[in-house]
Amino acid sequence: AEVTMDKLVSLCKRRGFVFQSSEIYGGLSSAWDYGPMGVELKKNIQNFWWKEMTQLHENIVGLDAAIMMHPRVWEASGHVANFSDPLVDCKECKNRFRADHIDLSAPCPVCGNSGTFTEPRQFNLMFQTHLGPVKDDKNIVYLRPETAQGIFVNFRNVVQTSRVKIPFGIAQVGKAFRNEIVTKNFIFRTCEFEQMEMQYFVKPGSDDEWFNYWRERRMGYYEKLGIRGDRLRWHQHGPDELAHYAKDAYDIEYLFPMGWQELEGVHNRTDFDLGRHQEFSGKDQTYLDEETRERYVPYVIETSAGLTRSVLMVLSDAYEEEQLEDGDLRTVMRFHPAVAPITVAILPLVKKDGIAELAREIEAELREDFNVFYDQSGAIGRRYRRQDEGGTPYCVTVDYDSKEDGTVTLRFRDSMEQVRVHRSELAARIRKEIKE
Ligand code: GAP
Repeated sequence: AEVTMDKLVSLCKRRGFVFQSSEIYGGLSSAWDYGPMGVELKKNIQNFWWKEMTQLHENIVGLDAAIMMHPRVWEASGHVANFSDPLVDCKECKNRFRADHIDLSAPCPVCGNSGTFTEPRQFNLMFQTHLGPVKDDKNIVYLRPETAQGIFVNFRNVVQTSRVKIPFGIAQVGKAFRNEIVTKNFIFRTCEFEQMEMQYFVKPGSDDEWFNYWRERRMGYYEKLGIRGDRLRWHQHGPDELAHYAKDAYDIEYLFPMGWQELEGVHNRTDFDLGRHQEFSGKDQTYLDEETRERYVPYVIETSAGLTRSVLMVLSDAYEEEQLEDGDLRTVMRFHPAVAPITVAILPLVKKDGIAELAREIEAELREDFNVFYDQSGAIGRRYRRQDEGGTPYCVTVDYDSKEDGTVTLRFRDSMEQVRVHRSELAARIRKEIKE
């Protein structure tokens, strides 16, 4: 059966992946909380990305910049002038819409009245607040609408302290905020979200080559994460879609339950950002190539993925309903084992005769290496189904034979196959399975 957004929202609530924010007060629209399962999934996706983007490259380093930055940053970046959406209000029902999302000559989609829209006006998407107790125009700060600028303003710091040479990259994961008109689609578009961005600094002239390199690497990453190839595609930005800083831009799109939508952007930002920061701060942002003695403002190739949006993508991609031979319907989340919230479930077949104690021992051994869940109550079939629905790739069942010969049953989520493994080999076997 097709995965629908309703099914995902319901599974996420039921199993503790994602809850509506402030639910007991009626909820805050467009804000979501990540529950015990969701926080593990999100953290694992972040770690998967971090490993791919830093550990696997000798020339990419990490950064964690502040959410609040000097207000001049956003003047230099162009966000104060350009980061806005055209909005209209319905004069009858007072609802607000993005002008480019609705047909302004048609009746209002909420109240059905015709000719009731105001003229479109530009609305800046940045959240504003005041630093310090006095609300004054002089102490306005913005919550960052992208993590990228934290990287650009630290370009000199990183060059001077990290022995990096161009080409090199700086990676960062963190919260970003946009005051968007959000109506539906769960965690797809929210006002508070997380980005995983990497800015790759290159010599001008080599930018097209690196742009192609990163496009290929980033699509390869989703394949590594086990995402279905027929649900991924490229979309090149046309001249009317290009951001103010971009020379060329491609989105990686995913076929979400509501259709094809952007998951990640790969952008050639040229020397726009460093050039502007040089102009606005008066601080030199050039790079000296020590071998050729050339000095230049580097070009930037950016890869920018949404972390919270990736959680929705991974949930959508993993969801499957399977008709079993015995007539049962099994809901299974086929997460890549490296990102599954629980890696191993320990399930003693019975509690008595020392079986539960033995299972607890095995649990303690595996906890050193994996996220483990222990469950001793209920029929074993039902316990398996519960783990399938939570996406746990491996279940370990401890029974009477385990007491005799030290072996346990290792059950695989996807195939439902079961093999006997000696407990001393369990951790190594699971580690090997995750890697494959
Ligand atoms: N630094 C470039 C930049 O921010 P973007 O295309 O505006 O580019 C990059 O955003 C990614 O961030 C998007 O592909 C999406 O995954 C994520 N993203 C942007 N706005 C979002 C929102 N309101 N909610 C969730 N994710 C969002």
